[in-house]
Amino acid sequence: MGPHAASRPLTLSEQADELEEKMMNELNDKIATKSALFAMADGSLDYVGGAELQARNPGKYFLMGADPRLPKMPDKPTLIDFFKHRFVSMNHLLQSATLALKAGHEEKVVLACLLHDVGVAGFIRCDHGYWGAQLIEPYVDEEVSWAVRVHQALRFFPDESVGYKYPDMYRKYFGPDYQPEPYIVEEYKRARGHKYYMTARLICVNDIYSFDPDAKVNLDDFVDIIGRNFKQPKEGLGFDNTPSSHMWRTLMWPTRFL
Ligand SMILES: [Fe+2]
Ligand SMILES: [Fe+2]
Repeated sequence: MGPHAASRPLTLSEQADELEEKMMNELNDKIATKSALFAMADGSLDYVGGAELQARNPGKYFLMGADPRLPKMPDKPTLIDFFKHRFVSMNHLLQSATLALKAGHEEKVVLACLLHDVGVAGFIRCDHGYWGAQLIEPYVDEEVSWAVRVHQALRFFPDESVGYKYPDMYRKYFGPDYQPEPYIVEEYKRARGHKYYMTARLICVNDIYSFDPDAKVNLDDFVDIIGRNFKQPKEGLGFDNTPSSHMWRTLMWPTRFL
């Protein structure tokens, strides 16, 4: 029981103080910082510098490693660890990959479906195809990362040859008049003639029906396919000095001060 127990209900500001205190305790008295982008997501360009932030939290140091409020990651994390402890919408990825598997597609396509939205699941929505491709690029066949990158653009354009129509969901989400920006149109045009076009298209085909909240899916079904097609670095993702290692570290430690 807290110090105010029994006497009277807590005021809102007392509740806020207790919550803040609880969060601080869970942080082991470290100060977690929000990056500029996190604040922008709340429509704010407010910035509090390190000195001022520390002055507001006397006697505390900034968090420079794992955030104890998030699930603990192993020292040498694998893709599976990120699926289990960081990706927030794993079900959508598993449903897409399950659909591709049932349709009998080759493992590269199944892996592309499994990873197509890692940008959204672990990082950021805006340009999720590009972020996702960059994350996985050092570890997968170029066909897989290429397909993940351009599926973002292909989603907006029908392909009758495989029965892919403009998604009704997009009309619902973005309104009937939404037109993709010119860079998306250009990406689509470039992709049309590309040798891996159909791989990216198959991501879209297996993606669109993948929003069933009751579907039974299991990450275990894909462990072997990941093992054969994702070059897991022995040092762990984030510690292998590739062009995307820093991105995996940021995913692991999103509130590090620097
Ligand atoms: Fe996507
Ligand atoms: Fe998707």
